[in-house]
Amino acid sequence: MRVIIKNDYDQCSIWAANYVAYRIKSFRPTAKKPFVLGLCTGSTPLGMYKELIKMYKAGKISFENVVTFNMDEYIGLGPKDAQSYHYFMHENFFKHVNIPQANIHLLNGLTKDYAKECKNYEDQIKSYGKIHLFIGGVGSDGHIAFNEPGSSLSSRTRVKTLTSETIEANSRFFDGNKSKVPTNVLTVGIGTITDSEEVMILATGDKKARAIHHAIEGSINHMWPISILQMHEHSIIICDEPATNELKSDTVRYFKEIEKQLRP
Ligand code: GLP
Repeated sequence: MRVIIKNDYDQCSIWAANYVAYRIKSFRPTAKKPFVLGLCTGSTPLGMYKELIKMYKAGKISFENVVTFNMDEYIGLGPKDAQSYHYFMHENFFKHVNIPQANIHLLNGLTKDYAKECKNYEDQIKSYGKIHLFIGGVGSDGHIAFNEPGSSLSSRTRVKTLTSETIEANSRFFDGNKSKVPTNVLTVGIGTITDSEEVMILATGDKKARAIHHAIEGSINHMWPISILQMHEHSIIICDEPATNELKSDTVRYFKEIEKQLRP
């Protein structure tokens, strides 16, 4: 596992955007061999999306041959609903870059047939071989996508019920009203995420410190879904200083030193 520790949120966003651009460019994607990117929503990746948009506008990166799969969606919310993840992605990223509409994949929160929707999503991912880089955030309870504590560490795309902690955290996007937050969601599974060639998780702010402690220093445990990254061959956690508040100082020093020595 690589752990990148930056001073603040902006530096994390810049590092993440540069890394995404580097991965896409070095892959040399074409229409026949697109780069497959897994994407997430939430407040944390917003800065990274802004940086990627800047790079696109400056002619430094193209998304023409990039295919995307988003992690999750609320059941019952359609693309025009301002709280849906379809809307979030369109407003905060897709409409600003040159990604073809046909290359964008999100789970349909309005589907009547959940099992079919989830199986199709897995099949669509498989049709591209694999996701090359899956970018995610993490909940303060350690959830990745909407895989709440107790999720099977080998789960696939399916319906999940949100915990009260996640409903409380996400109510800030629903006028602070918990009763407006959908209780059920469609989400890729932990197995879907870890099948990717590389997984990159962004975590900023001290609210994420406990999850980061469990991810890096804890044991692999379904009660802290993010801890599965320890089993992945290529995982990266990017965090700011406050998100490292619950790590031992030796752990922080260790990861800072290897980044300095190996990747100046
Ligand atoms: C939601 C999303 C997750 C995201 C998490 C943290 O629950 N489903 O994908 O990682 O929120 O969001 P934030 O970045 O806003 O803290």
